[in-house]
Order: sequence, then structure tokens, then C-alpha cells
Amino acid sequence: MRTLSHDQARTFYDRFGSRQDSQAFYEDRATTLLVDHLELAAARNVFEFGCGTGRFAERLLTERMGPEATYLGVDVSTTMVTLARERLVKYGDRVEVRHSDGSPRFHVDPGSVDRVVSTFVLDLLSEADIRTFFDEAHAALASGGLLGLVSLTPAFTVLSRLLMLGWTGLHRLSPALVGGCRPIALRDFVDPARWAPRYDERIVAFGIPSEVVVVAKRS
Ligand SMILES: C[S@@+](CC[C@H](N)C(=O)[O-])C[C@H]1O[C@@H](n2cnc3c(N)ncnc32)[C@H](O)[C@@H]1O
Repeated sequence: MRTLSHDQARTFYDRFGSRQDSQAFYEDRATTLLVDHLELAAARNVFEFGCGTGRFAERLLTERMGPEATYLGVDVSTTMVTLARERLVKYGDRVEVRHSDGSPRFHVDPGSVDRVVSTFVLDLLSEADIRTFFDEAHAALASGGLLGLVSLTPAFTVLSRLLMLGWTGLHRLSPALVGGCRPIALRDFVDPARWAPRYDERIVAFGIPSEVVVVAKRS
């Protein structure tokens, strides 16, 4: 399936901006499951790939992370980086938000990260970028560190099948019509030799199917 180029993704999300937060109606049930399985109180730091407006980061920092824990987010969209920085400025030097060139490289020290998270981003990357993302997450995480992901996933109920028929049709016409996102099975990208399973669940919210995956880095 065609995917947006990094430049096309930047252009789309620069225009979409704060409207991303209106997707909460179907995203929040899945991201709540993710948060519940990330053992965040024990994390010294969190790295988020594709942080959007910083809404998820704010939730982690406010509700789950320890008072000393730090957060680093990256995003390809200038608008998103600006919105996330504004939203998270209240956390001072515990937070950094970087603008990326769209490459799935993390640019962090190997083994330096306790949690890597990404919600509704991998489903708009090419398969090659998703594989590189998993390699980068493995290199970045400390031994036993957790990778937590949410993405749009193939339909598995009657209602979601109907809805996703329309969604994938639009994506085939032009990926930008659905923000570049198409259903993917995250579990297909998890190499069991490198990752130990912790949690894998599929849910449907308002007819939209999502997959939530948490895996631990094997040393
Ligand atoms: C569907 S939004 C999800 C935003 C946020 N994670 C959330 O759950 O609300 C996708 C986000 O990924 C960002 N993005 C898309 N491609 C990217 C890439 N190659 N590298 C970094 N960020 C990317 C977009 O700019 C946008 O902020």
C-alpha cells in the first residue's frame, strides 16, 4: 500500500495541527490501555516518536511519570512541535521536543531510554520505516525497557469491517484523505527473538479498530 512520504506527512500535519486532538474520541480508549501497561512509575525517562500536539505526553507527565522523570518527544511537523512545546513548557527542563527530518532514527545514546512510545504514527510509515523504527527502539532501550505502541489495525468486528472498507478505500485513492493512516498488524513487526511480549490487545471504538502492544527488550 502507498504511504505518505516524510514531506507529505509534514505538510499534512502542519495543516492539521491542533485538530489532531479531535481524534481523542476513538484514540483514548486504546491509549489508556497502553498507559495502564507501561509501568511508568518505574521509568526514569520516556521517548515518544511522533508526539503530535503533546496531549499524550501531558497525560504521562501529569498522571503517571515520577516527578524527576524526563520526556523527549520528536515529530516531523513544525506545527506539532510548536504546539507540543507550548503545551509542555510547564514541565520545564524535564521535557524536550525536537523537530525531526522524518527519518525513523532516534538520535539518542544506545541503552539510554526506559520507555519508547508511539501512538497512531507507525500506521502511516512505510514498512521499511517501521522495521527501522523497531531496530532504533531496540538500540535505544535499556535492557528490560518497554516499547509501547498503538496503531490502527485491520477490522475484526462487523461494524469495524464496514467502516474500514471505506477507510482503506479512501487511503487507496489518496493516503492524505485519512491522514496517511492505514490498518497494520503491529504484532507482525515484533521479532520474538528480540522482544518479550507483555501485552497485546485489539479494541474497537466508534467502529475504528486499534491494536495496543507492549513488549520488553530482551537483553
Ligand atoms: C495521527 S498523528 C498522531 C499524533 C499523536 N501521536 C497522537 O496519538 O495524538 C501522527 C503524528 O506523527 C507525526 N509523524 C508522521 N510521520 C512522522 C515521521 N516520519 N517522523 C516523526 N513524526 C511523524 C505527525 O506529524 C503527527 O504528529
